[in-house]
Amino acid sequence: MSVLAHKIVWITGASSGIGEAIALEVSRMARPDHPVKLVLSARRTDELERVARQTGLPATDVLVLPVDVTAFDQFPALVERVRQHFGRIDFLYLNAGISQRSTVVDTDLSVYQRLMDVNFFGTIALTKAVLPIMLAQGSGHLVVTSSVAGKLGTKYRSGYCASKHALHGFFDALRAEVHRAGLHITLVCPGYIRTPLSLQALNATGHLHGKMDTNQQEGMAPDVFARRLLKAVARQKEEVYIGGRETVGIYLKRFLPGLLSRIVRNREGP
Ligand SMILES: NC(=O)c1ccc[n+]([C@@H]2O[C@H](COP(=O)([O-])OP(=O)(O)OC[C@H]3O[C@@H](n4cnc5c(N)ncnc54)[C@H](OP(=O)(O)O)[C@@H]3O)[C@@H](O)[C@H]2O)c1
Repeated sequence: MSVLAHKIVWITGASSGIGEAIALEVSRMARPDHPVKLVLSARRTDELERVARQTGLPATDVLVLPVDVTAFDQFPALVERVRQHFGRIDFLYLNAGISQRSTVVDTDLSVYQRLMDVNFFGTIALTKAVLPIMLAQGSGHLVVTSSVAGKLGTKYRSGYCASKHALHGFFDALRAEVHRAGLHITLVCPGYIRTPLSLQALNATGHLHGKMDTNQQEGMAPDVFARRLLKAVARQKEEVYIGGRETVGIYLKRFLPGLLSRIVRNREGP
């Protein structure tokens, strides 16, 4: 029987890319006698409804819950809605995020604030709102989408790298605090995954970059990524790297940091 049987799985960033692929993969594990219930969140309701239909799950098993992850003050009410609807929250995939394509010297401070609000504060605020429920249940699993850029720094992504690095400090600390309470935390660092992330990335003035990066275009298919992630989550891995050879950068940073510095500074393009 799947570890997801009878579980409530809440996914942020479910309207596109990785979050959408996780929702579809989770729904593939549902059986009539082992149902899975999904909560799908992001800002675009129409896209969430499209994903909800694509899951093929009965309408009663999917809650479309539009959320802007920077509307922190709305989180307690949203969490209460999920609790009232499904009674509990077993898995929370904290996946909503935006990227950046701009140099430090050019970038407005407001762009850094936006990146931190969406990628870091949105993630920890929702975690804090859900945590009391998971602690009361004595179980729960938080799955946080970081990045290879959460383990090393690369050009044109200074604020993105900072926001993803911050997640590691926060969730490593939280993991130690909630271990005895039976809660699990998985940090996933994707490499290049074929999603519209670079199209939605912020430029120096906070406008959309609007270009598809070649690396992104040639990256791992989101469904392959989602399958590997769900396996790692089922094994309760603390940290997992999923992507192509770019994930080797994480090991270079750890064991050969000088070599990685040379590679990163000599790399051209976004
Ligand atoms: N693709 C990659 O190569 C890659 C690599 C490393 C890490 N990641 C991480 O993976 C996660 C998912 O990204 P993706 O690649 O799947 O890109 P994506 O297709 O652009 O998905 C981003 C998701 O985040 C949601 N989102 C953005 N701002 C939001 C906000 N203010 N409130 C609520 N939801 C918001 C978007 O939905 P709405 O626009 O509908 O709100 C969308 O569902 C991100 O955290 C990203 O940093 C991706």
